[in-house]
Amino acid sequence: MSSLRLGVNIDHVATVRNARGGVVPDPVRAAKLAEEAGADGITAHLREDRRHISDADIEALVEALTVPLNFEMAATEEMQQIALRHKPHAVCIVPEKREERTTEGGLDVARDENRLAHFVAPLRDMGSRVSLFIAADKRQVDAAHRVGAEVIELHSGAYCDAHDEGDYDTRDRELDAMREMSSYAHSLGLEVHVGHGLTYDTVKPVAVFPEVMELNIGHFLIGESIFRGLGPAIFEMRRLMDEARA
Ligand code: PXP
Repeated sequence: MSSLRLGVNIDHVATVRNARGGVVPDPVRAAKLAEEAGADGITAHLREDRRHISDADIEALVEALTVPLNFEMAATEEMQQIALRHKPHAVCIVPEKREERTTEGGLDVARDENRLAHFVAPLRDMGSRVSLFIAADKRQVDAAHRVGAEVIELHSGAYCDAHDEGDYDTRDRELDAMREMSSYAHSLGLEVHVGHGLTYDTVKPVAVFPEVMELNIGHFLIGESIFRGLGPAIFEMRRLMDEARA
């Protein structure tokens, strides 16, 4: 197995299903296909408004998966109870409301440190690896470390947006910040993941960071699967990641 893991986020299979109601396409079937295609983990975000993944999807994923489930959720009481019930391999805490996030879009851990420390503890105690989805900002990395997270996931959205907009100065600045914070977080003993907005065009410069252990990619892969099928879309992402890392 490569030292750089690929987590495939299947939320948007559920988005397509929910556009019509009903049961197709099935996110669990997509997750099993992703497993066969070499995904090292499956990520699913149970949002408070259930706009894509449902409670039943989470239950079915826990039952069906052989690779680890990374359960993404907001830091709410309700979600904590659901996580404690299912005991997923990993829990990634993400912001859902404006006031929970930094201007870059990551969780504002520094502003909510006390509450998050109490929120993280029971999840860790039950055995889940707790990750916080944050911007590449030293204040946030330090706060994530202090609240007891074992993992941080750096938000690559600003980097990917700048690339797509052709704003290469901003893109390179964002990339530098992620490189620097990957290395800093690693020095604190945190495991580093990266995710949001990654595509075939943007994955390699991030995949080369030696401290990064996992990339979580969803929207682009589900979109690309319309054109080449989910398995081949994942193979190609894996190939680019391995090529960057070699
Ligand atoms: N990582 C986290 C924490 C996320 O919330 C998401 C989904 O927004 C992703 C990764 C995947 O992002 P995308 O679907 O843009 O690839």
